[in-house]
Amino acid sequence: MYPTHVQIKEVGPRDGLQNEAAFIKTADKVRLIDRLSDTGLRYIEVSSFVNPKWIPQLADAADVLAQIKRENDVTYAALVPNMQGLERALAVGVDEVSVFMSASEGHNRSNINKSIAETFPVLRPVIEEALRAGKTVRGYISTVIACPIDGPTKPEQVRAVADKLFELGVSEISLGDTIGVGVPTEVDALLHHLTQHFDRDSLAMHFHDTRGTALANVVESLRHGITKFDSSIGGLGGCPYAKGASGNVATEDLLYLLHGMGIETGVDLHKVQQAALSMEQLLQKPLNSKLAAVAKGE
Ligand code: HMG
Ligand code: MG
Repeated sequence: MYPTHVQIKEVGPRDGLQNEAAFIKTADKVRLIDRLSDTGLRYIEVSSFVNPKWIPQLADAADVLAQIKRENDVTYAALVPNMQGLERALAVGVDEVSVFMSASEGHNRSNINKSIAETFPVLRPVIEEALRAGKTVRGYISTVIACPIDGPTKPEQVRAVADKLFELGVSEISLGDTIGVGVPTEVDALLHHLTQHFDRDSLAMHFHDTRGTALANVVESLRHGITKFDSSIGGLGGCPYAKGASGNVATEDLLYLLHGMGIETGVDLHKVQQAALSMEQLLQKPLNSKLAAVAKGE
């Protein structure tokens, strides 16, 4: 009934750190990513080549990419909003590019300063050029359950954006519950709709755990045969342009759930817990992670 193997895409260094009030030093980011590269994770989203005025926390994206120790079997990805971002990312040899937009007009505008229709002509040459450079391209769709500005999102809205992104050349779409409002019945409705149109292997889920429903939503997604999940070390994360958005589901909590269900990930839970605790020390605040708290008590 459930898949036997799941791939975890670690987004903590990007989604996690973009939302921290304090700027984390480049050397600390590099140390975190190097540590994550040694946990069995095969995919790490390391930073974001957006306008540094919008996300100053990740203004050092190029330095981070240049300084990390790359493992051959790990994909190091980054967010790119436009051609300027793509050029910066390609210059430091990013492995995979992630373009991003929203299913709702309100969040799309507040996050990237454009309507949905205005976004596709910006992304088209980015995707074409990235593919020409031999990179794979991932597409994020935010606010797939609800938008902080427009309210509930219909599955048809998500499908319309996904259709267009696949047509432009992305190989995988990550579906973001950006503000962590979703419950399993809503995930069921969304995936019931989308899996009629798209191959389930081309879909990933990106749950923020704002209201404690992320793991329940993961189980519902597994039931639909989804095998790719984004998560964030220590449950760090959030979108600064979505009011009330908090961290992603914690990688270590997701690992505990999956391993307990007999689903393989190839990732070492203990090493991830230790990396999460090192982040807690660095950030000097308790993390939103159950398994980090368990590790502290051991
Ligand atoms: P804009 O202001 O409309 O852009 O921003 P513009 O093209 O008019 O350019 C304005 C200025 O920005 C110019 O500089 C450009 O050079 C500069 P100026 O002439 O004023 O000095 N600029 C750049 N600089 C460096 N790198 C670039 C770049 N682009 C423009 N790539 C833009 C449009 C999209 C760039 C802006 O809105 C932006 O950067 N937004 C990013 C917002 C963001 O990063 N949000 C968080 C990530 S998304 C997320 O977290 C959701 C996700 O996790 C999934 C989920 O949870 O749902 C993925
Ligand atoms: Mg996110």
